[in-house]
Amino acid sequence: MQDALFSVAAIIAGYLFGSLSFAVIISRMMGLSDPRSYGSGNPGATNVLRSGNKAAAILTLLFDALKGYVPVVLVHHYGPAYGMEEGTAALVGLAAFIGHLWPVFFRFQGGKGVATAAGVLLAINPWLGLATLLTWIIIAYFFRYSSLASLSAAVFAPFYQMLIWGVGPELIAIVLMSLLLIWRHEANIRKLMAGTESKLGQKAAGAA
Ligand code: G3P
Repeated sequence: MQDALFSVAAIIAGYLFGSLSFAVIISRMMGLSDPRSYGSGNPGATNVLRSGNKAAAILTLLFDALKGYVPVVLVHHYGPAYGMEEGTAALVGLAAFIGHLWPVFFRFQGGKGVATAAGVLLAINPWLGLATLLTWIIIAYFFRYSSLASLSAAVFAPFYQMLIWGVGPELIAIVLMSLLLIWRHEANIRKLMAGTESKLGQKAAGAA
């Protein structure tokens, strides 16, 4: 019973951690426009980059990834001492990802979860994270669309996990993250098909 309570507490903590929308927090701290008011309106690193401020975009990417990475690593490390079962770390990562999508501190209006998912994958297994990141980089390099790179990485991540480690409790969390991430990119998919998606690094009007 006590073990289950620890797991539930860890999942709630993961969600709260994920609810820190760093695109909004960092933009505010650096005196930039709210990323929800320009470009795609998405509070994420790609959209912060459209403000033209590379440092703000890099910091957003880093902190959004860390909020997925840190909770999973902590549960991996300390979970067994509190009776947490295998797979709890991935569930906590999923909770952080869900926090990013529906943040309790930002009226449940969050982002698409790409950086946070990357952090979670890197923490679940560095090789899985690196293979997924490499997929993102290759697609972004050749096509220059952040959304297309994110969608491709989301499609491949569960296959990497299955190919290398087979079916396990982590796979369910990874598949759920991929499905939610793809669903959150619905507007991007429509723009990609219409040829109106903005390329990586293009500045948005109205951002400062
Ligand atoms: O990081 C999210 C990315 O895949 C798409 O972002 O701003 O172009 O909708 P955005």
